[in-house]
Amino acid sequence: MNYKEYFILCREKWRQDNSGLISPKLEDFYNDPTRPVPINTFAADYQLAVDSAAQRVFDYFSNSKEQGIMLQYPDIWSIREQLETMSSFIVPHLEKTMYGCYLYVDKIYIYRTTKCERDSSYIWHYDNNPNEIVKNIIYLNNVSAKNSPFEYLTKPDGKGYMFNAHRIGPDKWNQAPNGSRVNKEVKSLQATGHKPKTIIGPKGTTFTFNNNACHRANPIIEGYRDVINIRVKPTINKIELLDPRYTSSFEKQGVVDSNPEKI
Ligand SMILES: [Fe+2]
Repeated sequence: MNYKEYFILCREKWRQDNSGLISPKLEDFYNDPTRPVPINTFAADYQLAVDSAAQRVFDYFSNSKEQGIMLQYPDIWSIREQLETMSSFIVPHLEKTMYGCYLYVDKIYIYRTTKCERDSSYIWHYDNNPNEIVKNIIYLNNVSAKNSPFEYLTKPDGKGYMFNAHRIGPDKWNQAPNGSRVNKEVKSLQATGHKPKTIIGPKGTTFTFNNNACHRANPIIEGYRDVINIRVKPTINKIELLDPRYTSSFEKQGVVDSNPEKI
């Protein structure tokens, strides 16, 4: 079974369990792959969790001698409570408005972007996990045009532009051409009405993007940027949002299992 087939099964199960809710359309999941998260509709607990996590991450990097363009926060479980609170708002929101199925958090990255050359994630790319994998970035400090705003490419209709994954399931699991770096393609897309858009905003700003939405980070001109990146994955049965048995960070590779049912 490939990821899309599993996603459709997960949607059927969710619909049976939640008969009072209207399912978001399947086609919109793929047509509208980049979405702001309306954190102003979340209870104050959300921002409190962000503030608390932000302080912990800031303190860690203040005492760290690590150097590089992207500094990694090593232990997501040291702020488990804050991550659980944030996920308890973001995940149900995505279940109801984007996926129409149960989700769990399979990956969390916490990192600081520092002054750097444009390389790696700073080049236009897509992640090349299956199209059913979505990421959520949460800014842990105020982000302006000067400190590495997240940037994505929009279609002429204003919605995010997505490349198609070369990994769709056990029968098709391939690396992307050119390591999924797409600067050339973006140049020609820009000639046909596709436009880049950056996300700036205060600490707590949260943005959802399909891992195959065309995106990049921007170099730091001044300051730094701390971010939490929460990645979600469909599941047929409701399970705990986070669990050390299936939620990983930098210690495990970023590519998901080719079998969508594997948790
Ligand atoms: Fe990326």
